[in-house]
Amino acid sequence: MTPPAAESLRERAIAVLRANDRGGYTVPSAGLYPFQWNWDSCLVALGWACFDEPRAWQEIETLFAAQWPDGMVPHIVFHRDDPGYFPGPAVWATGRRPASSGITQPPVAASCVRWMLERAVDREAALAAVARLFPRLLAWHAWFHRARDPEERGFVATVHPWETGMDNSPAWDAPLAAVVPAPDLAPYERRDLAHVDAAQRPTRAEYDRYMTLVQLFRELAYDPAEMVARSPFLVVDPGTNAILLRADRDLAQLARILGEKEAEARIGIWIARAEAALPRLLADPESGLWHAFDLRRECRIPARTHAGFLAFLAGLGDARLAATLDHWVDTTRYALSSVPAGDPAFDRRRYWRGPVWPVANLLIGRGAQERGAEKAARRLRRDTAALIAGGGFREYFDPLSGEGLGGACFGWTAAVWLAWIDQPGRDRGPDDWSDPLK
Ligand code: DGY
Repeated sequence: MTPPAAESLRERAIAVLRANDRGGYTVPSAGLYPFQWNWDSCLVALGWACFDEPRAWQEIETLFAAQWPDGMVPHIVFHRDDPGYFPGPAVWATGRRPASSGITQPPVAASCVRWMLERAVDREAALAAVARLFPRLLAWHAWFHRARDPEERGFVATVHPWETGMDNSPAWDAPLAAVVPAPDLAPYERRDLAHVDAAQRPTRAEYDRYMTLVQLFRELAYDPAEMVARSPFLVVDPGTNAILLRADRDLAQLARILGEKEAEARIGIWIARAEAALPRLLADPESGLWHAFDLRRECRIPARTHAGFLAFLAGLGDARLAATLDHWVDTTRYALSSVPAGDPAFDRRRYWRGPVWPVANLLIGRGAQERGAEKAARRLRRDTAALIAGGGFREYFDPLSGEGLGGACFGWTAAVWLAWIDQPGRDRGPDDWSDPLK
């Protein structure tokens, strides 16, 4: 039976999604992020799917309506302008309709679509939506493998920290430090600091480099080959690559369901390549944790971040990785800190440098559970529930105190509650409802 506290949290989660609905798409958080963000939107659709399936499908279809002709799906779609955010459509100046940024984000869409199909009450409508979306999903994956792995080495490159979704992760410190801020960088005013305390956001030095990269890509007219050839920031992100491998597996399953045999064979080649390349390039021999790789300096990046555990989601984490996760969860009161406490880079309140992210817990927790690391998976789920129950639908949380940080009324945090926590009988027995709230 659902206890009353959980019931009201469900209602509050639904209210967050409805409040952030701008008509066909959901903003991550009013004010701080007033547009449609790529991976936010796909994960938010999981939440919508728990109470309004047509609206969930619409969320994904609205995102893919902004797909570029070459298959790329941008990281932000600016359906209408909003002066409260920087950098907006005029800065990106991609010339697209609808206006969008010129970089992408981790491709969670196919996995979300498969998840939604498998749980759909209206299976017929779901299959029709999947049939409509499949060619677009395939085109996006093909773009990733073609544009970001032109030599077919089995891993995709990332050209901007914003593409990873984990903007100021310590993994990007060294490659970003090598980006020389453009001397002619147009003066700019950050708007994020009007919404969130500066101690919880990236620094000015990081923003100068983020904007230098945007300026360069604009000058290159967002030509994908030129961006890979010329970006001073070029990394292999364990998060993006693990998510893509998982999404390829899910896309192959969708191809099977739709009887798309040729596509299934094509996707199989991408999967085999990644399975061979990723552990070799990214896995630390001691811990099995996946680390980022700097393609400009040809070295594995030593920084340890929670993104390394997304290897589980890709279906590749082993017992050593599970042991590393078991140890990591015990470094803080609430798991999973984005950087282990005690690490010199750990900063408990600053964005991707320490805080717990419910959405990362969902992706890592699901992967860990599938790979048999059940104890840690249960802990991630229980701590996520406790953080949201105690701190509300915040963007991220202090792993030591549990304090909610960053944006408020956050869409994907609400979706995590609906799709992962408020699911008795799905991920755990129907009788252990009280557990996550303890
Ligand atoms: C931001 O503006 O903070 C975003 O992470 C960029 O996508």
